[in-house]
Amino acid sequence: MRHVFVEVVVLISLVILELSYAFAPIVSYQWVVSYSQRFILGGNKQVIVINDMFPGPMLNATANDVIIVNIFNNLHEPFLMTWNGLQLRKNSWQDGVRGTNCPILPGTNWTYRFQVKDQIGSYFYFPSLLLQKAAGGYGAIRIYTPELVPVPFPKPDEEYDILIGDWFYADHTVMRASLDTGHSLPKPDGILFNGRGPEETFFAFEPGKTYRLRISNVGLKTCLNFRIQDHDMLLVETEGTYVQKRVYSSLDIHVGQSYSVLVTAKTDPVGIYRSYYIYATARFTDFYLGGRALIRYPNSPLDPVGPVPLAPASWDYSSSVEQALSIRMDLNVGAARSNPQGSYHYGRINVTRTIILHNDVMLSSGKLRYTINGVSFVYPDTPLKLVDHFQLNDTIIPDMFPVYPSNKTPSLGTSVVDIHYKDFVHIVFQNPLFELESYHIDGYNFFVVGYGFGAWSESKRAGYNLVDAVSRSTIQVYPYSWAAILIAMDNQGMWNVRSQKAEQWYLGQELYMRVKGEGQEDPSNIPVRDENPIPGNVIRCGKVL
Ligand SMILES: *[C@@H]1O[C@H](CO)[C@@H](O)[C@H](O)[C@H]1NC(C)=O
Ligand SMILES: *[C@@H]1O[C@H](CO)[C@@H](O)[C@H](O)[C@H]1NC(C)=O
Ligand SMILES: *[C@@H]1O[C@H](CO)[C@@H](O)[C@H](O)[C@H]1NC(C)=O
Ligand SMILES: *[C@@H]1O[C@H](CO)[C@@H](O)[C@H](O)[C@H]1NC(C)=O
Repeated sequence: MRHVFVEVVVLISLVILELSYAFAPIVSYQWVVSYSQRFILGGNKQVIVINDMFPGPMLNATANDVIIVNIFNNLHEPFLMTWNGLQLRKNSWQDGVRGTNCPILPGTNWTYRFQVKDQIGSYFYFPSLLLQKAAGGYGAIRIYTPELVPVPFPKPDEEYDILIGDWFYADHTVMRASLDTGHSLPKPDGILFNGRGPEETFFAFEPGKTYRLRISNVGLKTCLNFRIQDHDMLLVETEGTYVQKRVYSSLDIHVGQSYSVLVTAKTDPVGIYRSYYIYATARFTDFYLGGRALIRYPNSPLDPVGPVPLAPASWDYSSSVEQALSIRMDLNVGAARSNPQGSYHYGRINVTRTIILHNDVMLSSGKLRYTINGVSFVYPDTPLKLVDHFQLNDTIIPDMFPVYPSNKTPSLGTSVVDIHYKDFVHIVFQNPLFELESYHIDGYNFFVVGYGFGAWSESKRAGYNLVDAVSRSTIQVYPYSWAAILIAMDNQGMWNVRSQKAEQWYLGQELYMRVKGEGQEDPSNIPVRDENPIPGNVIRCGKVL
């Protein structure tokens, strides 16, 4: 009887789901992913293009739209696309990472279908498998605010997507082989702006107009300081959150992060008869590495003049932390919905669980690996999401997440942490290494409540920002430091938690959070309650052929 009831409920919710799909506008794309030779930074490289474009086409939609992307994989390798920062509510089936999806095999196609529910902002997509991001395959995502919901700044005259990132001459398969044999990625060979080298990309400015620049760091490892000669930037949005408007002369953009700034073009006659540099230079590195693009006014000569905008000192940790703490949520505005963001008082919710994520390195058979809480992630041949769905009893992945600190020897493993739906979780990222970290959580935004040097302890909670912390999906953790976030676990599914740094991610610095509602622990229950059902076109692999 109970089963019948459950099935009826599931049927009804399927109908409701279909209805909410049916009324939402649909944005649909056909993307062909293939290789192409491109001459970049003075060298030829085989890059991954989408519809022959590098970077790929902009994915442009409005909050609550249904997005359909049919991807044809013309590479010689398996492929998955992931949507960095899109929450894919209750739909980790569409996340495009190895723990949730079987790959799209060469010569085949697969259609992603998801709704961008209650989400706005600037993001990017990129290939998640096999270090393919080192060959490109990425592009910008813009999710606009619905018509009737106010935006906290006047409509800009024009918008530009700016994808910045480090670049390597080497082929991604060669770089991958090097990681496989235990070597680290070398120093990058340069910094690209929208897939191009120094001064090959320019943005046209008209006197007096205002531009929204949507900037993402799509690189593999390098934190970039972004700045524009003689133009200030008014920060307005960070990964889907409208922030308190502040003027910055330069902005640190860590690997995987996205920002929107407004820049007003000059009007004075001297100012508009010039070109200006846009710089992105490496921070927290021992070497100089920079990329440049240009702003051009109508009829301006091509060569910029005057002093280039100064970078902060590369290792000046405190200026970077200070800037990070100054980026705060604007409590007076809504984002995708019309109710103000500040109506949700995250600081008053009781934390139900604290999780410490401690990254480190280990050697496995003499080869470098990265760990979280002593486990370096390895994938089973069947995606975790499918193992759970098909209840493959011999392979089901238990929650073996090691609590930090543990006295176990670091090892390879498949780290899945079970989390109760509706829990309010406090996560502390603890970085004991002399290198910058960048972490991302799929399916969620979280409140960044604190940063500090050294080891985290309970007493640090007293200094948390419990009022207007920014809500975002990628966070930096400074060398020998900690960073703390609060996260409302309101999105069921199997969600990837990863280092955004390609080498760390590729070599095991990740885990999955399995977020389930009450009763879903019992495997005989219907495991998809409240989650989207398995897609009809699901690709099978491993043990579910
Ligand atoms: C983005 O989509 C909206 C609505 O579909 C459209 O009005 C707008 O022109 C698009 N913008 C770009 C730059 O393609
Ligand atoms: C592959 O593309 C075809 C043609 O557009 C489409 O009809 C089909 O549904 C796609 N296959 C999958 C699995 O998405
Ligand atoms: C939070 O915890 C405190 C102390 O345990 C308790 O008094 C309070 O009712 C809790 N608040 C909520 C919203 O659960
Ligand atoms: C897994 O175990 C459950 C109960 O223990 C059983 O009902 C189900 O048929 C099993 N599934 C498979 C694939 O063996």
